[in-house]
Amino acid sequence: PPRTMELLRERNDDLRDRAVANAEAVRRQRSLGKRTARERLDLLLDPGSFTEIDLYRRHQAHGLKVSEHRPHTDGVVAGSGTIDGRRVFVYAQDFTIFGGSLGQAHAAKIHKVMDMAIDTGSPIIALNDSGGARIQEGVMALDGYGGIFRRQVEASGVIPQIAVVLGPSAGGAAYSPALADFTFMVRGTAQMYLTGPDVVQAVSGEKVTHDELGGATVHGELSGVASFVHDDEESCLEDVRYLVSMLPSNNLEPPPAYVPVGAVDDVRPGFASIVPVEPNKPYDMRVLIEELVDDGEFLEVHAGWARNVVVAFGRIDGAVVGMVGNQPMVFAGVLDIEASQKAARFVRFCDAFGIPLVSLVDVPGFLPGTAQEHAGVIRHGAKLLYAYCEATVPRIQVIVRKAYGGAYIVMDSRSIGTDLSLAWPTNEIAVMGAEGAVNVIFRKELAAAADPDALRAELLAEYSEQLVHPYYAAERGLVDDVIDPSHTRSAVARGLAMLRDKRRPTPARKHGNVPL
Ligand code: COA
Repeated sequence: PPRTMELLRERNDDLRDRAVANAEAVRRQRSLGKRTARERLDLLLDPGSFTEIDLYRRHQAHGLKVSEHRPHTDGVVAGSGTIDGRRVFVYAQDFTIFGGSLGQAHAAKIHKVMDMAIDTGSPIIALNDSGGARIQEGVMALDGYGGIFRRQVEASGVIPQIAVVLGPSAGGAAYSPALADFTFMVRGTAQMYLTGPDVVQAVSGEKVTHDELGGATVHGELSGVASFVHDDEESCLEDVRYLVSMLPSNNLEPPPAYVPVGAVDDVRPGFASIVPVEPNKPYDMRVLIEELVDDGEFLEVHAGWARNVVVAFGRIDGAVVGMVGNQPMVFAGVLDIEASQKAARFVRFCDAFGIPLVSLVDVPGFLPGTAQEHAGVIRHGAKLLYAYCEATVPRIQVIVRKAYGGAYIVMDSRSIGTDLSLAWPTNEIAVMGAEGAVNVIFRKELAAAADPDALRAELLAEYSEQLVHPYYAAERGLVDDVIDPSHTRSAVARGLAMLRDKRRPTPARKHGNVPL
């Protein structure tokens, strides 16, 4: 009994120690507009569903006075809970303990829940709020990060990985959200960078704030590191729940489906008025997506970055689909480096997790110019091409207006393996637009003509009549059906039903060599 009492006293001392240390740190956390780790988990998970593990874990480090302060949890709350009744594994870094910094014990707790998530085929959600590697633990802290990264890569394409950045995430710590499938950030409080403002100034003399260097707006609009950006923690964690509701728990399970809502017979006259007939008139592809999906609801990924392409999850007749659409409202919907990267990563995610792809095509081509060519648009465009070519999930292409040249091939054409290609009657599929084509193939004739304008008009009409319409492609089997725009939703729903059990085994190989 004396030994038991001693143990109990020892434990209580530590818990008190933690409470005292916490009071001021919690006050500071709130003053920054941030919640505590446990409050965040309450918002994320179904009420009462959280099962914590390793509450009593604490560091075993010595030196630099760290052994004088050994709070339980070691600055990370870890365990499992449910979202809409479905199991997920979570860890939430606690900035009030050692600034949420990661030492050996902290990392070991994260490794443990990651292993459980992989073994049980459940999504892993990380709530990051951390000063990075715990400086006092030296290389052991770095070793802890390595263990996280290696597990993330092992789990890639096996379980969905979601990172939610709710505070600093500096140095090596930034690579954990970078390796996740989706990264959320909150404006004003979340920052990610490899080297902080002090180092930046020391090295280059450049003066920059934390937010200017790596805030949510920077990563949501410029770098593309953040897939979702929110104004506050509540709406952010609510959207994490929404995303999880669209995803399967692992790569062997289908995404959660609702009961079909009769989309196969749903005629929508609204479609035709969304897309202007004039080939260069802009419109918002998101309005078309709204008309296509159940209840007009969808979740756009990377909404603020590479806006000339839209990627989104939604449901059609109850089943989850991933949609990729050119956005005529931004740069006329051309494909460029960033749009290719954004769409390629989305296509590969959908393919890894068995989510059918619906591609909504209205693309004038790739963005011309030295800036793009010198920055490697060929290499980056090849990513999207590669991603589509290797995708074995059901694939439906809907050509709503223009589909020209290489961009036509890349946007899931028949030649690279789409299962079903549908086209609106008004559209233009060709190597290039009539004007450019006529100038190239009839250059000499036009130069020699007595009345070049009259000849050009005649040739333009002939080219358009012969080549620039979907029937040319349909007669040759490159378009499977020319559809009435009002039947777009029903035709896609029927296509998805037709392709639902698609299986396409791939030859054995270690892995492909996607152009990076
Ligand atoms: N290792 C150990 N302790 C750390 C830490 C780290 N990497 N980062 C923060 N802390 C501690 C601080 O010492 C402080 O402890 P205290 O309350 O006992 O004084 C507490 O966490 C809060 O940090 P503080 O610096 O007061 O918070 P802030 O909001 O002003 O700044 C950071 C946050 C992240 C910008 C700042 O802490 C920082 O620059 N940390 C180091 C980042 C880094 O370079 N990490 C290594 C990268 S791999």
